[in-house]
Amino acid sequence: MDLMQGVEFSHWLFNNYLDKHDILIDATCGNGKDTLFLANKLNSEGKLYAFDIQKEAIENTKHKVKVNTLKGNINYINDGHENMDEYVDESVDGIIYNLGFLPGSNKDIKTEKDTTITSLNKSLDLLNVGGLIVAVIYSEHEGGFDEKEAVLNFARKLNYKKYNVLHYHFINQKKTPPEVIAIKKRNGVK
Ligand SMILES: C[S@@+](CC[C@H](N)C(=O)[O-])C[C@H]1O[C@@H](n2cnc3c(N)ncnc32)[C@H](O)[C@@H]1O
Repeated sequence: MDLMQGVEFSHWLFNNYLDKHDILIDATCGNGKDTLFLANKLNSEGKLYAFDIQKEAIENTKHKVKVNTLKGNINYINDGHENMDEYVDESVDGIIYNLGFLPGSNKDIKTEKDTTITSLNKSLDLLNVGGLIVAVIYSEHEGGFDEKEAVLNFARKLNYKKYNVLHYHFINQKKTPPEVIAIKKRNGVK
């Protein structure tokens, strides 16, 4: 078996830390793969907020959820994740990011380092103790490398007494496969 690629690894992390009744955020719902994956893990007490700045992405995600006959408790929000605190007024257990552009769509509409960092700061505030943030980061598109560096710098500076931080990446490939950052708010820390 090969080592897991970024998206697979991000789901594996959530498989290991998720509870059925969790409150979760998909910060970049895109074509809905992560939304579908997370929503499938929840029961009727769980809730998922799905953000995307593109209406097309919100519609794609709604469609994916519908054809998979998922009845979960999903709030779709057609706005930037940097405004998540305006929509989420409860603490959450997990937040997933899949950075970059919507596959098959306009590559110029993509996550940007400044709004991503604003959003990550808000995610830390919303996250419960024991909660998990996972970001899958692509760096080959324009602006992607700078965004990746900004996210890595942000993550590296987090206080180790409050957060466990993981960086998962392949180091011997020709191209630059997606990398993963995972941030866990440590138990026993307020
Ligand atoms: C790589 S795609 C996400 C793929 C998606 N998770 C999936 O499973 O199909 C990145 C998405 O981020 C969205 N995006 C860009 N800037 C954003 C922002 N500030 N807030 C929320 N979504 C944003 C894009 O519109 C795009 O759909």
